Amino acid sequence: MTEQSPVTQTNAARVAQSPDGQVVTAVRHYTDSLFSFRITRPASLRFRSGEFVMIGLMGDNGKPLMRAYSIASPNWDEELEFYSIKVADGPLTSKLQHIQEGDHVILRPKPVGTLVHDALIPGKRLWLFSTGTGFAPFASLLRDPETFEKFEQVIVTHTCRDVAELTYGRELVESVKTDEMLRELIGEENLDKLVYYPTTTREESPKMGRITHLIENGELFSDLGVPALDPETDRAMVCGSLAFNLDIKELLEKAGLREGANSDPAEFVIEKAFVG
Ligand code: A2P
Repeated sequence: MTEQSPVTQTNAARVAQSPDGQVVTAVRHYTDSLFSFRITRPASLRFRSGEFVMIGLMGDNGKPLMRAYSIASPNWDEELEFYSIKVADGPLTSKLQHIQEGDHVILRPKPVGTLVHDALIPGKRLWLFSTGTGFAPFASLLRDPETFEKFEQVIVTHTCRDVAELTYGRELVESVKTDEMLRELIGEENLDKLVYYPTTTREESPKMGRITHLIENGELFSDLGVPALDPETDRAMVCGSLAFNLDIKELLEKAGLREGANSDPAEFVIEKAFVG
């Protein structure tokens, strides 16, 4: 057998030889601009639900093209799941959107992030506020029993322009409530704690409006029959666009909640949903 010459080697072959190379096990497309995929997980990779890692592909110039991705799977899962936007001229996602089962991606196994339980002080009610692919870290946290052990109520809000963009989040919440394995893991007694509040801003749907607007006018609280945000009881994690994060931060601070960090836990934490 002759050795394959480096010039004829495919990108996948090169990645497979790298210690950071992982294999794609599943891909699902939701809309023209959204897809999710799963990859193998290195046995040595430990992470806290809600954290992110760098993943990518080998660029045409032989240099890795990497981007931060929230891990959407929980920390007990054998594989890693990611939920991504597709940007036509995005350096990585223009290529990544074409991956198929069996392809290879590069994973830098150094998880970090602030959307973790350690960065919040104990409370009664956990709010998970997301827009677009900002739902990803919450897909991890919502499949982690710790989320339900720590709080009496867990409310996840997801705002997108169109109804189809809510699909990934809606199915995830449904799976927590109906999948036998997840029900058992999270505990039947905890399932009622989970409340899902989806809204759209452009396409007609049962609940419309930016979540920031629905907080300001009180509709979010009256719809759900819960009191307004209170630093004594309420904790929040926020993940969306930069503008969204800044607007929510202002509202949370106005309600008296303080931003926390791993080293200094407080009442809320924020992370930008990654784009490009
Ligand atoms: P809108 O349609 O009113 O801009 P995008 O696709 O631009 O990232 O937005 C995702 C969702 O987040 C959209 O429904 C969008 O509403 C909403 N959104 C964007 N910016 C903000 C913001 N600053 N505050 C609240 N919601 C926002």
